[in-house]
Amino acid sequence: MKTILCIGAGYVGGPTMAVIAKHCPEHRIVVADVNEERIQAWKSGPLPIYEPGLDAVIQETRDRNLFFTTDICGNIEAADIIFVSVNTPTKTFGHGAGRAADLQYWEKTARLIRDNSSSDKIVVEKSTLPVKTAEAMHCILESRNDDCHFEVVSNPEFLAEGTAIHDLEEPDRVLIGGGDTERGRAAVRELVALYEHWVPSERIVTTNVWSSELSKLASNAFLAQRVSSINSLSAVCEATDADVDEVARALGMDHRIGSKFLNAGIGFGGSCFKKDILNLVYLCEYYGLQEVARYWEGVIQMNEYQKQRFVGRMMRTMFNTLADKTIAVFGFAFKAQTSDTRDSPAITVCRELLEEKARVVVTDPQALDNAKSALSEVDPENITFEQDPYAAAEGAHAIAVLTPWPEFQELDYEKIYRAMQKPAFIFDGRNVLDQNQLYRIGFNVYPVGKQPLSHV
Ligand SMILES: NC(=O)c1ccc[n+]([C@@H]2O[C@H](COP(=O)([O-])OP(=O)(O)OC[C@H]3O[C@@H](n4cnc5c(N)ncnc54)[C@H](O)[C@@H]3O)[C@@H](O)[C@H]2O)c1
Repeated sequence: MKTILCIGAGYVGGPTMAVIAKHCPEHRIVVADVNEERIQAWKSGPLPIYEPGLDAVIQETRDRNLFFTTDICGNIEAADIIFVSVNTPTKTFGHGAGRAADLQYWEKTARLIRDNSSSDKIVVEKSTLPVKTAEAMHCILESRNDDCHFEVVSNPEFLAEGTAIHDLEEPDRVLIGGGDTERGRAAVRELVALYEHWVPSERIVTTNVWSSELSKLASNAFLAQRVSSINSLSAVCEATDADVDEVARALGMDHRIGSKFLNAGIGFGGSCFKKDILNLVYLCEYYGLQEVARYWEGVIQMNEYQKQRFVGRMMRTMFNTLADKTIAVFGFAFKAQTSDTRDSPAITVCRELLEEKARVVVTDPQALDNAKSALSEVDPENITFEQDPYAAAEGAHAIAVLTPWPEFQELDYEKIYRAMQKPAFIFDGRNVLDQNQLYRIGFNVYPVGKQPLSHV
């Protein structure tokens, strides 16, 4: 039996450890966090995050071989392997502000591990970190004058929120980067053995530490680049008579390109894509690779442009004024099947609508509490949060679909249309609704990357 500690009980730490606990019943897994409220929720529910399938895994493993605690120091010594999945947001201050990763949580954790250990440990980077972080962590961990040894291994997480349990159960690959020493190789073997409980060996890839750290940043950069690429073409489609879905289909049928991640919309969000690209940009600048930095920065610029373009189109369509108009925002989570609103495009879109003096009513099946926190600075006079989409749309001048929740496809739009101001507009920022049917009902429909279906 091994004891595994995970520091950081967030969107990554919680689900990842639950799935490890499920498949490795002989190991004891402890998940620790400084956030008492979060730990309490993991212990006795409702769970602190919404993720399909997570409840069942937690029910099976909690208090069997999966435990949650706020006592981080007290659980370090007993651990053989320590995963660190604390947050690594973009730095907001000082050198590298707005670009570099803020590593303060990671460094504090490394010092905690060092100061509470008296035996050897494998320390696993689960958080997404800038390339070469393992080296810095190794320096901190080894800055003790005794024989205690810490082996730092990189094991980035590739799960996507909304499909986290499926991604953990059946990963495309598990990446493990370790040092080229006897101890480094032994640590990698230990992690491989852990994952081999349920992941086929051919999907477990081992590399050196830096390749592993860079591969995680590169994966997110490539995925985000696809979104920005199709969104750039959506602007061309709107200007011409092309249809972005038809273009995406034709592109995606080329097996060298593939069909995934080619949905045009209002842009990517979430806590990772932008942060990780900024990290890559910072890394390139650090190494004097200005052209490479500008290349990847373009992916973020296109994403910002797409959000502004969406609001700009709403403005122009609604007779160049949104002042005093009510806009029902359908969806605030950065994607469907999650309650996460971090860096959601909806934040920017809502702020821009409010700037234009519109009244905003937000509805979302899972993310309303997070939406309230994300827009807590807004005067409650100007914004309402409404669980029921029908109530949200009542009396509204327009609906803006910002998250592709399947629930929004099931609504009775005849009923919604009757309760709205006329002319009634729908701006389908995710191209998920039946646009022809909406047009037949009487809506003026504005998808992304397609010609509008308009009565006005
Ligand atoms: N969310 C994703 O989809 C995803 C996917 C892959 C990788 N990642 C990466 O994983 C890391 C964690 O992401 P997340 O979404 O789980 O973040 P999160 O904010 O949901 O969770 C991080 C947790 O760490 C805790 N924490 C911070 N400092 C701590 C400390 N010193 N001691 C104990 N706990 C501490 C916080 O309280 C928080 O609960 C990030 O580096 C992220 O880039 C995230």
